[in-house]
Amino acid sequence: MMRLGVNVDHIATIRETRGTDYPDPVEVAILAESAGADGITAHIRVDRRHINERDIRILREVVKTHLNVESSLDKEIQSFLLDVKPDWVCLVPEREEELTTEGGLNLNVVSKEIKLATKKLKDAGIMVTFFIESDPKMVEIASNLGACAIELNTGPWSENPSMKNYKKIEEAAQFGITRGLEVHAGHGLNLQNVGPIAGIEEISELNIGHAIISRALIVGIERAVSEMKERMLFGE
Ligand code: PXP
Repeated sequence: MMRLGVNVDHIATIRETRGTDYPDPVEVAILAESAGADGITAHIRVDRRHINERDIRILREVVKTHLNVESSLDKEIQSFLLDVKPDWVCLVPEREEELTTEGGLNLNVVSKEIKLATKKLKDAGIMVTFFIESDPKMVEIASNLGACAIELNTGPWSENPSMKNYKKIEEAAQFGITRGLEVHAGHGLNLQNVGPIAGIEEISELNIGHAIISRALIVGIERAVSEMKERMLFGE
């Protein structure tokens, strides 16, 4: 069954707008798991605009499913992750001024750095994912660089849910499996657009944040998580 990883970044975003110690992404992660989340995801950014070291350390202690931390290749963060040892690290590109991750890694450009970071993480017992576009060239490079999994960027699909964008994801997912990679997907997924993506059997995990946390403001995190899981199972 396809897993749902719940990204709790934006609980921390609300906390950081006031510099308070609430709301706590850790508390929300625990509730999300009890409502059926199969994993918890958090992105520690260089500017620490939402998730910080304290969050990751405590999530590492309390998360019972698996903890997936998204990160750039920043040296300080990489050495922190080698110390804390999340179950998964998902390597993502990061640009300071961006509102959210804007696209997949350009593996042509960062291949040496990525290869080294991946080796270090894997040697520490951490599984490594690369966030990439649904492009067979990137899938191929990801497998050559030692990734355990790829996370396909569903951003283009969420902006324009066309057959063309769907096919790109489906084909990249199928190709990933033939290269021995686990295939994840995420970015911009919500209750309206998740159905077809959840129907791609090669994908084993979806990571969803903004839409679930937004919905949680209205109906509570437990219902927001269980609704999403239901939609993943039964489609529209
Ligand atoms: N996957 C990756 C690699 C991401 O960077 C993000 C955003 O942090 C997500 C999934 C979740 O995206 P969204 O918040 O749009 O659901």
